[in-house]
Amino acid sequence: MESIKNKVAIVGMGCVKFGENFGQSIDDMLIDAAYEAYADAGIESKDIQAAWFGNLWAGHTGQILATPLKLSYIPVTHTENACATGSEALRGACYAVAAGACDIALAIGVEKLKDTGFMGLPQTRPNATWSYRLSSMTAPAGFALMATRYFAKNNFSLEEGKRLLAKIAVKNHHNGSLSPKAQFQKEITLETAMKAPIVSSPLGLFDCCPVSDGAAAAIVVRADMAKSFRPDPIYVKAMQICQGPREGFMSPAYDYAHVEETRRAGIAAYKEAGIGNPAKEISIAEVHDCFTITELTIMEDLQFSLSGKAPEDIESGRYEIGGALPVNTDGGLKCFGHPIGATGLRMMYEVYKQLQGKADKRQIKNPTIGLTHNQGGEPGAAVVSVAIVGNEK
Ligand code: COA
Repeated sequence: MESIKNKVAIVGMGCVKFGENFGQSIDDMLIDAAYEAYADAGIESKDIQAAWFGNLWAGHTGQILATPLKLSYIPVTHTENACATGSEALRGACYAVAAGACDIALAIGVEKLKDTGFMGLPQTRPNATWSYRLSSMTAPAGFALMATRYFAKNNFSLEEGKRLLAKIAVKNHHNGSLSPKAQFQKEITLETAMKAPIVSSPLGLFDCCPVSDGAAAAIVVRADMAKSFRPDPIYVKAMQICQGPREGFMSPAYDYAHVEETRRAGIAAYKEAGIGNPAKEISIAEVHDCFTITELTIMEDLQFSLSGKAPEDIESGRYEIGGALPVNTDGGLKCFGHPIGATGLRMMYEVYKQLQGKADKRQIKNPTIGLTHNQGGEPGAAVVSVAIVGNEK
């Protein structure tokens, strides 16, 4: 099996400000994200040869993208893979360019959630989207179970566990305060996080990502063409996605304190990228902190921390900007929210800027290899994308 390593590069990216974008339609956000990416790559809309469009709830077909962007009579593919949808769009564009099917492709994702009334908790309005499904096991409830199991497995009291999760929220809110495109740009204290209203015990308000609107885009080209677009392209080293069998709920062997799909997607991506020691070789990671407990367990599942040692690494500041392996330097889902189709590409936007040395106040020192981790589903039933990119071929 061949690897995608160094076959394709990202030469342009765009991202709108995430948040309660009531003043922008889906078309507006798609246009803003795409045209920022075109300008960044120094191309025009007519240069796009094929497009991959990530979105869950705007409707069907690639026309939702093709119409506002006037991408007429070229292949436009609509992708959906739960919360990993944005990364799935990027994967489609990368694979097509690597296969030689096209030389310049657009990957773009969008979601407009605030207008739908969607939130993680059960919804009471009769016509609320997904109300039938969310009435029993909500996303906060599923991840709350994970937090409880992680605390039990690692001998944390409720108070100790909540304090640990609050540290992640404080870090990500700090990083969000440095991110002009984040929904939340406000620092919080440990006490604020720990005393916040409970959403699903033990998770409080600041353990949850908010509900948000947003869009993000990438221009993918053949690696050997990349420097004709810009001097600092970002090369794709690995692009993996792992779909679980959805058996966790029924399996007595499942500890509910890790995500097997994350472990396996990480192992596959490290192999593809030729990374032997991720804890040392990865310079920066954007991971799927839909809830603070998710970020905690990802640190172990991606081998950034030894099993059971993520709490020590979090306490020591290892994952802060300035730490040995900065995680969610833009504030993550905690501050950007989770407009589903856009999230994976928003993560790549931050890694791309960091690897180019253009992350402004959030810039980390001399990064070479970046990783995005984008997770759909829930503990025991997930789909996980892990992508690895670097600033040298
Ligand atoms: N973190 C911090 N602050 C938040 C927040 C969050 N996650 N969610 C909302 N807020 C703030 C709002 O900014 C607002 O502040 P303000 O009064 O100063 O303006 C206030 O809390 C109330 O906002 P509102 O939009 O009414 O919140 P809500 O009560 O409808 O929703 C949650 C709060 C936690 C239930 C909602 O954010 C949620 O469902 N999050 C999880 C989403 C989810 O599960 N996604 C899928 C992931 S897999």
